[in-house]
Amino acid sequence: MKLRFLTPLMLSFFFTFAGLILLFFAGENMLNTDFSGFLFLFFTCCSCFVKTMPTTLNRETPNDRPIIGILTQQVSDESMKPYGRTYIPASYVKYIESAGSRVMPIRLTLSTADYENIFRKINGLLFIGGAVDLEKSDYARVAKIFYKLALTANNAGDVFPIWGTCMGLQLLTVLVAGENLLTNTLAENVALPLNLTADAYSSRMFEDFPHELMRAVTQEPLTGNFHHYGVTVKNFEENEKLQSFFSILSSNIAVNGAHFVSTIEGKKYPFYGVQWHPEVNRFQWNSEMNFPHSLHAVQLSSQLAEFFVNEGRRSLHRFDNPEEEAASLIYNYTPMFAGNFTGYEQIYFF
Ligand SMILES: *[C@@H]1O[C@H](CO)[C@@H](O)[C@H](O)[C@H]1NC(C)=O
Ligand SMILES: *[C@@H]1O[C@H](CO)[C@@H](O)[C@H](O)[C@H]1NC(C)=O
Repeated sequence: MKLRFLTPLMLSFFFTFAGLILLFFAGENMLNTDFSGFLFLFFTCCSCFVKTMPTTLNRETPNDRPIIGILTQQVSDESMKPYGRTYIPASYVKYIESAGSRVMPIRLTLSTADYENIFRKINGLLFIGGAVDLEKSDYARVAKIFYKLALTANNAGDVFPIWGTCMGLQLLTVLVAGENLLTNTLAENVALPLNLTADAYSSRMFEDFPHELMRAVTQEPLTGNFHHYGVTVKNFEENEKLQSFFSILSSNIAVNGAHFVSTIEGKKYPFYGVQWHPEVNRFQWNSEMNFPHSLHAVQLSSQLAEFFVNEGRRSLHRFDNPEEEAASLIYNYTPMFAGNFTGYEQIYFF
């Protein structure tokens, strides 16, 4: 690290020094144009280093071709049943793709050995929203397999991030607590500002947020909520397992006055959860829904997508060959127009 920092610096010192010696010997003969040419070159080099140095310094980004897995969701809505048994709204796929990652849809009908195999190839996992049993459903069974694999991998220094959105956050709390702590925290079709905790300001999730956006997050309704259940701050804080595993980064007030947890981050593990929906800010438009689309809402969505994909870049998992990789990606499927029978514009059915 230190060496990488020093090398460009030493190089630019070397060139400056060499340039000065050249100038000294060239003396009066040196034309003004040559001198300004040299200065130009020198400053170009400097600005070049200044620009590239922080990225090589601050982040180890060995994987620039990340693939994030998305667990397919079980269809529960009658209107969607004719088209498939599981689905992924295209908004989640676009959200992940927008930050420079590819997506692998993961079906719920495979064996444990298949999931172990997939785990070694993908660089992170997204649990999306939906409406299924968080303990007994196929969705919960598969999520638990990946969760355990991710714990073991991270413990061994093999970084593997998980993000849960809405029901995905609820699922993470069930996996960590080993029990379902959900209660009524109705916040349906309402956009809210986040009540950030002190921990949010020292979190990884919000670390790279511009000051102005951080302020906007607390004052403007940038987070779309579409849920009936959630974990109250009280239930969260009284549960030893949740309390030691996650930091609460924000909370909100439900219709019934319940104070619910709205954003969480693993203290030790790269696991993140939001009770709200960052993907709708850029990729869902149904005008009957309170999807935030303001400049700050879009910025918030972009920032978090990039944050999570950047976590995925730290994972070195990969497919055995390009053919296997190509056959696994979402590009093999075509999303269907669903704007006339659901709140989503497009859905992938499986
Ligand atoms: C914000 O959260 C704090 C605890 O972190 C709580 O004491 C306060 O009542 C909350 N305020 C609102 C408006 O949600
Ligand atoms: C929705 O629109 C598509 C394409 O326009 C059409 O084929 C389909 O029948 C419509 N579905 C419903 C439930 O109206």
